[in-house]
Amino acid sequence: MGIKIVTNIPGKKSKVYLDKIKKLNIGWNSPYPFVQSRGGYGCYFDDIDGNRYLDFGSQICTNPLGYNHPDISLVLEGLGTFSPVKLAGQDFTVPEHLEMLEELIKITPGNLDSAMLVNSGAEAVENCIKLALRSRSSAKYGVSFESAFHGRTLGALSMTNSKSVHKKNILEIPTKRLPFDTSSQEKLIRLIDQEGGSEKIGFVIVEAIQGEGGYRVADPKMMKDLRKTTKQYDIPLICDEVQAGLGRTGKWWAYENFGIVPDIMSSAKALQIGAAIANKKKFEVDPGAISSTWGGGSIIDLAIGLQTIKTIKKRKLLENVRHMGVLLKKGLVEIAKEHRVMSNVRGIGLMLAFDVVDKKTRNSMILEMLKRGVVVLGTGNRGIRVIPSYIVGSEEIHEFLEVLDSALHMQEKKKVKHTGNICKYLNCGEVHS
Ligand SMILES: Cc1ncc(COP(=O)(O)O)c(C=O)c1O
Repeated sequence: MGIKIVTNIPGKKSKVYLDKIKKLNIGWNSPYPFVQSRGGYGCYFDDIDGNRYLDFGSQICTNPLGYNHPDISLVLEGLGTFSPVKLAGQDFTVPEHLEMLEELIKITPGNLDSAMLVNSGAEAVENCIKLALRSRSSAKYGVSFESAFHGRTLGALSMTNSKSVHKKNILEIPTKRLPFDTSSQEKLIRLIDQEGGSEKIGFVIVEAIQGEGGYRVADPKMMKDLRKTTKQYDIPLICDEVQAGLGRTGKWWAYENFGIVPDIMSSAKALQIGAAIANKKKFEVDPGAISSTWGGGSIIDLAIGLQTIKTIKKRKLLENVRHMGVLLKKGLVEIAKEHRVMSNVRGIGLMLAFDVVDKKTRNSMILEMLKRGVVVLGTGNRGIRVIPSYIVGSEEIHEFLEVLDSALHMQEKKKVKHTGNICKYLNCGEVHS
C-alpha cells in the first residue's frame, strides 16, 4: 500500500472535527492530529483528508489484526442487523459469550480455568483485585511495582505508579511498592517480616513488561523470585496482561516468557473486551458479588475478540510476531548505532521501544514521524513504542525503519521546530496508556 501524505497535518477536514470535539470536551488534550476514515488495509489507515499512514502504534495495542482484516469483515457481515448489539451480558447471554469463554480458557494455563467478561482493562484489573481479596480477610494492603500502570479507576489507580498526573487528589487503597528489579524479592520478604505477616498482603500485582511506565521488561529472576515468594507465603499473584497479553510478545501471555503462571490475570485491549481470569475456586462467591451490567461489551466486541483469537491461531500470527519482532528489533538496534539521540532498544516480540534523549525530543520526534506518515506512541518519560499489528510484514518494517532513520537525521542536524497547526498537538504522544 505505502504511505501517502497529501496535506499538512492535520488536514483541513480533520481540523474541523478536532476543533469541534475539543470545544465539547474541554478536558480532551491529547488527540493525534488526524481523524481516521474507514479506509486502509493491514498496517495502513487513511484519514478523512486523503492521507495514508503506516500505523506502528496499533491503537495502543488494541488492533492486533490491522485494518479491514478479511476475517473480521466476514464476522461483521455475518452479524447482520440484530439490535440491541449490547446486551446486559452478565445476566442475558448470546452464543458469543460461551464461544469467547471457551476460546479464552483454551489459551490460558490449566489452573486458570474460569473467566469473567467485562468492558475494559481497568475493570478487568478491579475484578482481579476483588477476586484476590475475597479470600484474604486479614488483608490490609496490596502490593504493586514502581512505574506500574493498571488503569484509571480508583482501585486500579491505587496500584498505578507511573506518572503523578494520573493520581492528583485521589484516595488510595493502601498500597506498598516494590522496585521493578531483582531487589524486589528482598523488599517483599522485608514487608512480610516487618508489616505483620503475609496475611496482611491482599495480593501482589505486576506487569511482566510495564506498558505506560516505559516498556520496561522485567528481569526473569525478578519474576521467578516473585512467583516463588508469593507461592511460599500463599499471597495471590496477579499478572496484568492488558497491554502485553494476547500474543503481543509472540506468546499468548507475556508472563510465559518468564516461565511462571500467576494465580489471577487480566486481559483486555487486543481481546476487544476485558476479562478477569483465575481458577474456578476463586469465583465461588455469593451471587451478585462480582458483576456489572455489560458483561463483555457488545456482541460485536465479543465476536471480534473471539475471531481475533481464532485468526491468530489460524494464520499462525504468534510465529509472525516472533519473526517480525526479531527483524524489527535488529533494525532498531542498527539505527540506534547511527544516532546519538537514540538508545536502549528493548522489548519482546512486537512489544518494542527505544529512548531518545529527553521528553521534548521524544514529543518532537513523534510529530516529525507523523509528518512523514508514521504513527508511533510515547511511553514513560522519553520512550517511543514500536508496536505494529501482528500481521506486519518485512516491507512495512523497512518502510518504518527508513522513516525513523530520516526523522532522526532531521532531529540531529537541525533543531527541529514544528510550525503551523500541528504545533497544538506537540504532546499527543505522551498522554496515552
Ligand atoms: C497494563 C494495563 N493495565 C490496565 C490498563 C487499563 O486499561 P483500560 O484503559 O482499558 O481501562 C492499561 C491501559 O493501558 C494497561 O496498559
